[in-house]
Amino acid sequence: MNRYLEIILIGTGFYVCGKEKETYGTILPAILTFAKLNNFKVKIVVGINNKKSEKNFNEKIYELKRLLAVEDLIKHEFIYCEGSPVTFINKYNSDSELKAGIISIPDHLHFVWAEHLLKSKIPLLVVKPLTLNFNDSLKLFNLSKTLSTPIYVEFHKRFDRQLKYTKDAFQKGLIGDPLYAFTEYTQKKEVPLRNFEAWAELTNIFSYLGVHYVDTIRYITNAIPKRISASGQKKFLIKHGIDTYDSIQCNLEWETANKRIFNQIIICSWIESNKSSSMSKQDFHLVGTNGRIDCEQKDRGLKILTDKNATEDINPDFTRIYAHNDSHIFEGYGIDSIVHFIKNIISKEQSSKDKRLCNINEALFSTAVIYNCRKSLEHNSEWIDIDL
Ligand SMILES: NC(=O)c1ccc[n+]([C@@H]2O[C@H](COP(=O)([O-])OP(=O)(O)OC[C@H]3O[C@@H](n4cnc5c(N)ncnc54)[C@H](O)[C@@H]3O)[C@@H](O)[C@H]2O)c1
Repeated sequence: MNRYLEIILIGTGFYVCGKEKETYGTILPAILTFAKLNNFKVKIVVGINNKKSEKNFNEKIYELKRLLAVEDLIKHEFIYCEGSPVTFINKYNSDSELKAGIISIPDHLHFVWAEHLLKSKIPLLVVKPLTLNFNDSLKLFNLSKTLSTPIYVEFHKRFDRQLKYTKDAFQKGLIGDPLYAFTEYTQKKEVPLRNFEAWAELTNIFSYLGVHYVDTIRYITNAIPKRISASGQKKFLIKHGIDTYDSIQCNLEWETANKRIFNQIIICSWIESNKSSSMSKQDFHLVGTNGRIDCEQKDRGLKILTDKNATEDINPDFTRIYAHNDSHIFEGYGIDSIVHFIKNIISKEQSSKDKRLCNINEALFSTAVIYNCRKSLEHNSEWIDIDL
């Protein structure tokens, strides 16, 4: 097959390919899984800032190509861009008819890169949150429309079976009119202290983590966020030189198409003990007039305990490597979400009918919520109306 897909990849961190031994992230495993399952050639053009990232990326991609046995299908090259999208675009030269961009860099940089790649008419997938400011998301929305170039946001929970089940059950009316939803979502201290030390101050735990369950409610109910009140604490991280909230709790009011108002409570933090049995603790509950749905998202029933390590709760549903014939394959909702984007681009089926992939119209809701959450935090937990 001569047809090949060119993927412009911005970012080479934890989520792209992992940084520690035998960790591979999600984005690179998804691209290679797509190539393997569809016997499709892919060239990855990687925007890179320094030699250390180049070395890490090279190690991971060669290891993954071997594990998945896709040496013949995958090529890659680097463009040194010093963190600048302008430099990247000036150096990028391609006549490939089939291309897609994936942006996975710190939250506060999503906008500037997305804007430049969109202007070059590259269809995009941006990791969540789309942008930190609502106006920036609106600019991307207008740009995408004017240039007829799609932009999606990688909200992988839309592909989680628990939440797909919840959406279907809710839409069938099984739990009646929604009354309230609640979630506690935490991550270990090592995330802000070690993994994201360079940029933890430039986002907050609600924009980085809580946003997932804001999009989840939008996905399940199609409701519209109306107003928000949020509180936060700065006690632990600030003592370690990182000026960001340890935890944020918010109360978010939604309105359904038939004008029913319901509440969503999200409690999130990134100061969970490093001894936790998983990287994230998370759950989701939706209660209505006729019933409730409870999704336990951390303890999915699979644990491992060995002489070397304490008990670990395994999430077999997110991004996992499994033996597959004589090699390996990655499976899970993390993989499905990215493969789905790639397939949409190839088939040019970039329609708003596909409700699982979060398109730019859908992403405006979660961006409006995180933007107004920040306002409420700055104004003593005042209720802030969300204007869309
Ligand atoms: N880690 C996860 O599990 C996860 C999951 C879903 C989404 N995300 C999102 O993915 C994004 C990246 O997260 P990560 O965990 O990979 O972070 P990371 O800090 O490990 O990696 C960030 C990457 O961005 C690059 N970068 C920094 N400044 C840049 C610039 N100016 N221009 C171009 N590249 C630049 C860095 O070199 C690095 O490769 C974040 O928005 C995060 O919210 C992360």
